[in-house]
Amino acid sequence: MKVLDAEFTKGFIRMANDGWEQGWHERNGGNLSYRMKSVEVELVKEDFKAGDWQDIGTTVPGLAGEFFLVTGSGKFFRNVIIKPEDSLCIVEIDEKGEKYRIVWGLVNGGRPTSELPSHLMNHEVKKRLTDGRYRVIYHAHTTNTIALTFVLPLTDEAFTRELWEMATECPVVFPDGIGVVPWMVPGGREIAVETSKLMEKYDVAIWAHHGMFAAGEDFDLTFGLLHTVEKAAEILVKMLSMTGQKRQTITPDDFRHLAKDFNVTLPEKFLYEK
Ligand code: 13P
Ligand code: ZN
Repeated sequence: MKVLDAEFTKGFIRMANDGWEQGWHERNGGNLSYRMKSVEVELVKEDFKAGDWQDIGTTVPGLAGEFFLVTGSGKFFRNVIIKPEDSLCIVEIDEKGEKYRIVWGLVNGGRPTSELPSHLMNHEVKKRLTDGRYRVIYHAHTTNTIALTFVLPLTDEAFTRELWEMATECPVVFPDGIGVVPWMVPGGREIAVETSKLMEKYDVAIWAHHGMFAAGEDFDLTFGLLHTVEKAAEILVKMLSMTGQKRQTITPDDFRHLAKDFNVTLPEKFLYEK
């Protein structure tokens, strides 16, 4: 089967385009990766043509031999749906988890996203922690979340609690909370290490003054998670634009009641008295 005819490719393209339509992907902003199932690799491997091995820039032994569908570096999300074989590629990871090679896509040249170290290190953590269930890592330049990184303290506690308060569904959708990476140079191993440490605890990591990373089982859940966080951030931005002082809000005890009824565990570190 052709890569472009496979269901996982169609799901990937739809998600990329949904992100574009939300306004999270100016120019080449953001990137997306999907860890393929072995049946999917078998299904499309007749369409593969292997390039040369390249250094990943970090080591991911837990992903040895895996195949990923990823966006290309410098490629515009706007164009993913229009010319996917120019915008995307499939990469294979070598048996040591040190190198990758392109086996499909980027027909006009190029390389996978510059955030490949962050994507792969996050995938490695999530594959281990979820017994292989999580397959998607998504990075977007989410406007409202970025705006908040100029006014909220850059702590997991502040971001989680303030965003939980903005919509009742939030603590149910991201009960583990959200991590925050202070401003760092993007595109390398250092920021990948810090982000993947947060992925040990959370499914969402915010990059100060830059954007957001989300991890999930499939395209719908990962997009929905990032969308929910960004929607809460939008409400908070609107609220802060009206007043610095809330008249009423969801209280720590309200969250405890919600946790009981919805059968989720909300860490007490986020339910501090203000
Ligand atoms: P790439 O075009 O290399 O994916 O970079 C975009 C981006 O958002 C960097 O953080
Ligand atoms: Zn970015």
